[in-house]
Amino acid sequence: MSNKIIELDVVESTQIYIKENLENWNLFDSCFAKIQTNGYGRTGNWNSQFENLYFSKLLAADKYNHLTAICSMHMLASKYAEDIEIKVPNDLYYRGKKLGGFIIENTDEYAILGIGININGAPEEFTSLSNITNNRYQVDQLAAELDELINMNLTMSTKMLEDYYKQNCKIIGTYVEYLELTSGDKFSGIVTDLDSDSITIDGLMFNQTAIKILNKDLSVNR
Ligand code: BTN
Repeated sequence: MSNKIIELDVVESTQIYIKENLENWNLFDSCFAKIQTNGYGRTGNWNSQFENLYFSKLLAADKYNHLTAICSMHMLASKYAEDIEIKVPNDLYYRGKKLGGFIIENTDEYAILGIGININGAPEEFTSLSNITNNRYQVDQLAAELDELINMNLTMSTKMLEDYYKQNCKIIGTYVEYLELTSGDKFSGIVTDLDSDSITIDGLMFNQTAIKILNKDLSVNR
């Protein structure tokens, strides 16, 4: 697959950049920015004060597996650091701290995938590849590698992505505390199963978006 990867200096948000330039954009084209002045995530502002990876890519709506992004992000981070985990459903974590996340914004025709991975720095409650390994990273190199991984994973079977996802969530057999989002009530239990959309805790199956895992205790990992 040959697609363009545009390097931008300063943009409001790489997501907005693609949305505003759709007529010049081809499927699978990507961009990344040195600085975002108004980057956003699923729940609000995405901190852009560090020299990190702020990356967006244009995909066809409904023609991708929703695990493509998180598996690609995990594969990228795992080239540089060990013990990176996927936190159900959409985040990259290292030892209880968030390393990255993604959003997908849909139009009828397109899905605009936006990925943020902290590579050279992060606010206090987050972590970065640099914090983990004490190295600094070239944003353009990691953007190219991420783009290649996404292109590769777009061709992978659902089964392969699901297996990778399940294996790297490292959550089956662990004791978790979780919030049920509709009621706002807190519960706890042992995770007994996981697939791409659901999670089973003490025999109760939830859609992954219906709960928020608050913390997990690896000491009971079996
Ligand atoms: C999350 O909330 O976890 C998702 C964060 C996604 C942030 C990325 S950075 C590149 C792209 N541009 C944005 O404004 N947001 C996404």
